Amino acid sequence: MATRRDFLSLGAMTAAGIAIAPNASAQTAESVKQLKPPAKPVIVTRVTGDNTIQEAYKMLLDGADTLDAVHHVCLGRENDPKDHSVGLGGLPNEEGVVELDSCCMHGPSRSAGSVGGVQNIRNVCQVARKVYEHTSHVMLVGKGAERFAVAVGFPTENLLTEDARKIWMLWKESNSQMDWWGPGMTSPQWKDPYADRPAPKPTIDLHGGPSSQLRPVSPGSGPIPHHPTAEWAETIRARAVTLSRMAADLDIPAANRQFAVEQILWPSTGTIHVSAVNAKGEISGATTTSGLAWKLPGRLGDSPILGAGCYTDQDVGSAGATGSGEENIKVAGAHTIVELMRQGLSPHDAGMETLRRIVRNHNGDMTKIRLLDMQYYIVRKDGAYAGVSLWNTSATGKPRVFAVHDGTYRVEKHAYLLEGTPLDWPPF
Ligand code: GLY
Repeated sequence: MATRRDFLSLGAMTAAGIAIAPNASAQTAESVKQLKPPAKPVIVTRVTGDNTIQEAYKMLLDGADTLDAVHHVCLGRENDPKDHSVGLGGLPNEEGVVELDSCCMHGPSRSAGSVGGVQNIRNVCQVARKVYEHTSHVMLVGKGAERFAVAVGFPTENLLTEDARKIWMLWKESNSQMDWWGPGMTSPQWKDPYADRPAPKPTIDLHGGPSSQLRPVSPGSGPIPHHPTAEWAETIRARAVTLSRMAADLDIPAANRQFAVEQILWPSTGTIHVSAVNAKGEISGATTTSGLAWKLPGRLGDSPILGAGCYTDQDVGSAGATGSGEENIKVAGAHTIVELMRQGLSPHDAGMETLRRIVRNHNGDMTKIRLLDMQYYIVRKDGAYAGVSLWNTSATGKPRVFAVHDGTYRVEKHAYLLEGTPLDWPPF
C-alpha cells in the first residue's frame, strides 16, 4: 500500500500521468543552463577566525556532501562561546534568554529545513537539517522545535554564558530605554533619532536597470562617516568611558570590556551564512544566528526564513545574508539573488540589485537607510561568487570583508552600494 509520502512523490505523480516539464516554472537564461561545475569547490562565507573554512574545503575535496561541509563551518561558530552572534554564547533577547535561528538547503536533494526561536540547544544548524530528514515538515519554532531537537538526540544546556550574561547586564543597567520597542521605520509615527544630523540625499538610480548601471558610491551624498562631527565623537567617547566603568563594576574582564561596550553601542547582528559548490556542481547553503541582541522574545529575523536568510537552487546557485533581518525578509533577499542569477545576472549584479531593492523600499530616504546594514554571500553553480554589502564599512568603521576558498583561502572586500557606515540603531 502506498504511504502518504509515496503518494506525494514525483514518481506517484508521473505514474498518475501528470507530465512535469523540466524548468516549467522558471525562466532560466540560456547562459545559466550552459554553466559547467567549477574545476574546484568554492566556499563563500563570513570570516570566522578559525580553521573550519579550510577544513570544510578539505572535506569537499575528499568527497564530502556539500551540506556537511557548510555545516562544519556553522558548527565552529555555534560551538565557540566567544562568538556572541551565534549558538553557545550568543547575546540574548531583552529578557536574558538566548534564542537561536537557522535554516539550510541541500541542492542535490532539493531539501530544506528551518528552526526558529530555539532555546537551550546550541547546534541549531543541524536541528534544521533533522527537520526534513525526520519529518514531513520544513520549519519548526519555539518549544516545539526544542522538543523535536531533544527527541532526535540533541543535548540541552543553558546557552547564556557568563560573558554574554554580563554584557546583557551592562545593556540592562545602561540602556534600558535603548531597545527595539516603538514604531518601526515604515510607521507614520516613526521619528528620526538623528533629526539633528541631516541625512545626505542619495544619487543612486533606484529604479534603473541591471546593476552594471549603478553608481555604487553616491557622489552627492559622499561618504557618511560614523562620527561626522567632533561633538558626536566626543559623545560616543564619553558614553564609552561610562560604559567601560560600568563593565568593570560588573566584573567584565579588562580584555573583554571594549567588545562589551561595542555590543551596547552597536548591538550585534552577527550571524553566519555559508554557501558552497563542489566540483560536481552540487550546491548547499546554511545560515545560523542568535539574532539581534536584546530582541523581543519570539522575534524571528531572516536567518530561519528560507528565501531570505538562505536560498539554494541546484540549477542556479546559493545565497545568504547577514545584517538587518527585517529588511532582508521584505525583499526575500537570498531568493531574489538566486532568481536574478537564474535570469542571467552575475552574482555581483544580482546582489547589488537586491541591495538596491532595500534602498528602494525606503524610497531612498537616507534618514532610514543609514540605520540599516546588510551583507550577501553568493555563489553560482559554476563557482562564480560575490560578497556584497549595503555599506563599505561596519558601524565600528572597519572595511566590510568576506571569506572565500576556491583552492586558495582569502579574505576579500565586499562590493558595496553606498560608501560610508551605518549609524547605531537603536540609538541612545
Ligand atoms: N540577520 C540576522 C537577524 O536579523 O537576526
